[in-house]
Amino acid sequence: MTPVRVLAVASEVYPIVKTGGLADVAGALPLALKAHGVEMRTLMPGYPDVMRMLRGAGEIRCWPDYFGGPGRLLAGSHDGLDLFVLDVPHLYARPGNPYVTAEGVDWPDNGLRFAALSRIAADIGHGLVPAFVPDVVHAHDWQAGLAPAYLHYDNRPRPGTVMTIHNMAYQGKFAPELIGSIGLPWDSLNVHGLEYFGGISFLKAGLQLADRITTVSPTYAQEIQSDEGGMGLGGLLRERADVLSGILNGIDIDVWNPQTDPHIAYRFGAEDLTFRAANKAVLQQQFNLDSSDEAPLLGVISRLSWQKGLDLLLEAIPTILGDGMQLALLGSGDRDLQDRYQAVARANPGRIGVVIGYDEILAHLIQAGSDALIVPSRFEPCGLTQLYALRYGAVPIVSRVGGLEDTIVDIGESNTSDRDATGFKFAPVTVEALTGTLRKANTAFRNKATWRRLQLSGLATDVSWRNRAGDYAVLYRDLVAARRT
Ligand code: ADP
Ligand code: GLC
Repeated sequence: MTPVRVLAVASEVYPIVKTGGLADVAGALPLALKAHGVEMRTLMPGYPDVMRMLRGAGEIRCWPDYFGGPGRLLAGSHDGLDLFVLDVPHLYARPGNPYVTAEGVDWPDNGLRFAALSRIAADIGHGLVPAFVPDVVHAHDWQAGLAPAYLHYDNRPRPGTVMTIHNMAYQGKFAPELIGSIGLPWDSLNVHGLEYFGGISFLKAGLQLADRITTVSPTYAQEIQSDEGGMGLGGLLRERADVLSGILNGIDIDVWNPQTDPHIAYRFGAEDLTFRAANKAVLQQQFNLDSSDEAPLLGVISRLSWQKGLDLLLEAIPTILGDGMQLALLGSGDRDLQDRYQAVARANPGRIGVVIGYDEILAHLIQAGSDALIVPSRFEPCGLTQLYALRYGAVPIVSRVGGLEDTIVDIGESNTSDRDATGFKFAPVTVEALTGTLRKANTAFRNKATWRRLQLSGLATDVSWRNRAGDYAVLYRDLVAARRT
């Protein structure tokens, strides 16, 4: 197996900086790729947390004026991850969320901030770091979307480029004038380059100019080729369908392992699932829910945004209450949804528990203690929480979209497919379909043998990166081979 060198470019990487699933993927994939002969290093911005956690950092280059202020490129590591860090204080030394101010508004210079990241990615692609000259530059989401563009317009021998879409809803759109300050030629601002409805879109640029495009599930790869799922880029993706593929996400089965998880109250494996009851009791306490083994406890761990369909779940609360179920929701995001969930919890003490915020430890406890995990998304490129749920014996109840369709086998499908059922899927994504499925799950929960079968099939499902990382390795090798010929 010829070794392949890949530079991954990502704006967040678990366990250093995380706002969602992109970080989990960017953090786990490099480790899984080692077994496939892929040497991956990851380039990320030098946010304060990154600078604090970086180990063995050495300076590779420094510039007195990098996009308007002093900058340095560092190499170092964290927890087995080999990192390049772009330390440019005037762009990245800001507290809190990487993309928005404390008031929740996008940083006004996001265009510059992430152009700077992509510029250095392209330079590493051209050999800036002689000890690591990549065969492939792999850009994740819009924040890295200009990396294939710089490599394209630099007009020099270059590595292969891959653009991965984790979410079509975030496209990195900016005013056309930005082109004057990011070092790309003005003529890149055309329909075959960066231009998008008169402005610039970083994601569009990456999709237009990368050699290969991937997204994080086969079903989402189909959905985004439609006008609706493509969110304005469906036509482009249809045109580039021959280089587009869907590779399903895996999860880090060491970080998410109920047998060793330090964040849960009682550890357990497939043979001692009864310990889940003890985790359920702790979860009920933490969410101020009535302590009851009999009431099915539904869990949610999510960003609160339109994508996730949690407004539909609010409308299903009467069904949850009427049918004797409980709800524990951990989430943050949309102010209106936060307020509405808090109001519902106040009105239904003991039955509905809500924690607004971001809490990695509580997320693990919800997986270990809830009976079912609900993901009612309107669209979902892959989704990771349902994969964690499978590994923890929480039965997923999901909408039939994107990666949710690809990763869960519906209870009704078990007779027709050779795969065993692992959960419940509903379609269309409406309150009626959701409530109907919640009722079905409630009935199934009351049948202990049925529920146990669902849990055991979930626990037996391979959700690791092992095979899926192999698909990336094949993609990189094919690309390198294609560019040689
Ligand atoms: P997305 O990336 O669209 O938010 P995913 O399901 O792919 O959705 O990934 C979400 C990740 O973020 C998971 O690791 C999940 O556990 C985590 N997460 C989401 N919301 C919270 C929260 N409020 N607290 C802790 N972890 C959260
Ligand atoms: C995005 C998607 C989610 C996916 C994650 C990691 O944030 O919304 O579905 O699992 O990226 O690929």
